[in-house]
Amino acid sequence: MSETVLSVSDLAKSYGGVQAVTGVSFDVSAGEMLALIGPNGAGKSTCFNMLNGQIRPDRGRVSLLGREITGRRPRDVWRMGVGRTFQITATFGSMTVAENVQMALLSHHSRLFGLWKPAAAQFREEARALLDRVGMGAQLERPCGVLAYGDLKRVELAIALANAPRLLLMDEPTAGMAPGERIALMELTARIAKESGIAVLFTEHDMDVVFAHAHRLLVLNRGTLIAEGSPAEVRANEQVREVYLGAGHVQGGH
Ligand SMILES: Nc1ncnc2c1ncn2[C@@H]1O[C@H](COP(=O)(O)OP(=O)(O)OP(=O)(O)O)[C@@H](O)[C@H]1O
Ligand SMILES: [Mg+2]
Repeated sequence: MSETVLSVSDLAKSYGGVQAVTGVSFDVSAGEMLALIGPNGAGKSTCFNMLNGQIRPDRGRVSLLGREITGRRPRDVWRMGVGRTFQITATFGSMTVAENVQMALLSHHSRLFGLWKPAAAQFREEARALLDRVGMGAQLERPCGVLAYGDLKRVELAIALANAPRLLLMDEPTAGMAPGERIALMELTARIAKESGIAVLFTEHDMDVVFAHAHRLLVLNRGTLIAEGSPAEVRANEQVREVYLGAGHVQGGH
């Protein structure tokens, strides 16, 4: 059995009268690709934001490798090994691909940003190795601002990996990408997760991507988990078909 990386128990959050998340519990193991799916407003992003410290839960516990991280600040959670990618890419457009990743490595190694200029050569080889890993080794010197969207997503993945995360949170990582690129990005993520023993939790509206790459699925509806299982089990679940898959999602996303 793989090591449990993340353990979530009875997580809840409401906004005024709206119960965004009510009593959600699950685990993610090293190397596992776990998809959190559900209709718009189901509470997926709220869950993510409670896991990385952006939102403080009303109740429940989050532990990373057995250490409780509930209520810690995002920066601390990140330091403890939780990486994330964003729906809107977060690279610096005027800096090159290599520089963006070098900066993430500098940050991971807690050097000061003020040292950036003299440190320009630092972590050059590590950045190159990470960028090779995500298939961006040939574009090291291009400014991020001119990259194709799919390539930018790969750089973003390399930036998340610079922190050597044990858990990677990806909230709709393939939003805005062409279908072929989506499959490629998640294939790459799955390969790296397996090689490095990273637990990956991702949300995704494209069911082709989910069923192709998730080892296991959690289905959230109105803040509550209504199903959990393998892609085949979830696909066959009556309640899931009713609230989510039945609405035309099962054939090719949106
Ligand atoms: N900051 C907030 N203030 C008030 N209500 C909020 C806030 N954030 C989320 N909500 C509400 O909580 C519920 C869950 O929202 P959430 O964004 O987590 O859903 P989601 O599953 O990520 O949806 P989507 O698929 O559209 O991204 C929704 O009813 C939403 O309107
Ligand atoms: Mg969301």
